[in-house]
Amino acid sequence: MNNIDLDKYFKPDLNKARKRSKKEIEELKFQLSDAHSKIGINKTYQIHTYGCQGNEADSETMAGILELMGFTHTDSEENSDVIIINTCAIRENAENRIWGELGRLKAYKKQNPNLILGLAGCMSQEENVVDRVLKKYQHVDIVFGTHNIYKLPEYIETAMFAKERVIEVYSQEGEIVENLPKVRNHQFKAWVNIMFGCDEFCTYCIVPYTRGKERSRSKEEVIAEVKDLVKQGYKEVTLLGQNVNAYGKDFKDQNYTFGDLLRDLDQTGIARIRFTTSHPHDLDLKTMEAMRDSSHVMPYFHLPVQSGANPVLKKMNRHYTKESYLNVLNELKKHVPGISVTTDIIVGFPGETEADFLETMDLVEKADFEGAFTFVFSKREGTPAATFEDLTPEETKKERLYILNDRINAGYLKGNQRFLGETVKVLVDGVSKYDESVLAGYSEHNKLVNFKGDKSLIGQIVDVKITQAKTWFLMGESL
Ligand code: 5AD
Ligand code: SF4
Repeated sequence: MNNIDLDKYFKPDLNKARKRSKKEIEELKFQLSDAHSKIGINKTYQIHTYGCQGNEADSETMAGILELMGFTHTDSEENSDVIIINTCAIRENAENRIWGELGRLKAYKKQNPNLILGLAGCMSQEENVVDRVLKKYQHVDIVFGTHNIYKLPEYIETAMFAKERVIEVYSQEGEIVENLPKVRNHQFKAWVNIMFGCDEFCTYCIVPYTRGKERSRSKEEVIAEVKDLVKQGYKEVTLLGQNVNAYGKDFKDQNYTFGDLLRDLDQTGIARIRFTTSHPHDLDLKTMEAMRDSSHVMPYFHLPVQSGANPVLKKMNRHYTKESYLNVLNELKKHVPGISVTTDIIVGFPGETEADFLETMDLVEKADFEGAFTFVFSKREGTPAATFEDLTPEETKKERLYILNDRINAGYLKGNQRFLGETVKVLVDGVSKYDESVLAGYSEHNKLVNFKGDKSLIGQIVDVKITQAKTWFLMGESL
């Protein structure tokens, strides 16, 4: 590979990424040029995916593009011609794992100098990451970000034939690109992006910088995608966005928001509709009413609260209080009786006191969550919270996490126990990891259910009577 001439690269810039322009978002249609359609013939690829469902969906797009170029997937790293690492920047430990992975892959590059190594995803959007790659990870050939996946064919061509390093990361929102090919990882459950980006700017979060301005896909495109999935035999879609409750708020010419989309998708013939992730501040009555009235939207809601202490919520820029969160939650439970609710919580946010933490514990008690992803605050360079005074010792933060997790685990168990003796509908995913004769799948309330059954049921929705409730799963018998 050629060596460093920093000016020729298109590097990320957090200051630019922070800005939100009023510019109309353009819709582009992806089309592969003839020149690119044969580059991958007799060549193989792998994609290593880290992080959230948004990244999983992006990796499916990258796989779709690579296969359109002629590449085929391989399970062997050694025999790969292209390896792309699709990265996550949400917390420091996610990044550390990826740096380790990049170091490990250097050995393959030594064995096969023609191997193209690509870095994609949220980490690529960070200035400090790209600087470090330029200085210390010379074996990485391509760095591209979350806004320009559709240009992958060009980047591969340049790295492969011109033997030049490609660093191209756009810091501003970019377009919405339609007509992108996908190789889906699952045969009956699919991710469907409904919007990109985030405009909330919670003070701890890097996502608004790595994923850009909030922009919604047109309802026509989303509905057409779901209808097409139904035709292909898909049973479940999960609608994706950093804040799906803000869907449509960027439409200038129409008043069509998330509740409207749920109602329309309910009519498409898809058996199950799920979505993630939500912001309490944008969750409106229209959405709750749509959930109440639809037959295919699942009775499950992931509603991140982050903290139960009002001073902390304010410093996080969350736009709600403990009390208003509980009000929204009660309203949701009224509209969809029996709904299962899970959440995200951060402990050890800068300045969080013992009393603040107890407020979080109190909120968890009142909210009756049936599960949560819990985290210790991680400082992300470039976010406002990275500059906040943080005097709480790491040990104290970890203790808070343990105490919280104990309470959350009790919530998982209680949430499972309420189904004892009930018959639930399970979409069968496959066989259990531990026993081939046991099937595993998820109920409408998103509970993992195991039961004895024949493999032919995989992909079907089956009635299962629940006989045992454990913390992490339910056991049952098919009817
Ligand atoms: N530190 C810890 N957790 C974070 N999250 C987002 N940013 C951070 C951070 N800097 C958590 C939030 C969010 C989830 C996806 O990740 O809880 O809801
Ligand atoms: Fe991050 Fe907040 Fe946006 Fe979620 S809503 S992606 S936590 S800024």
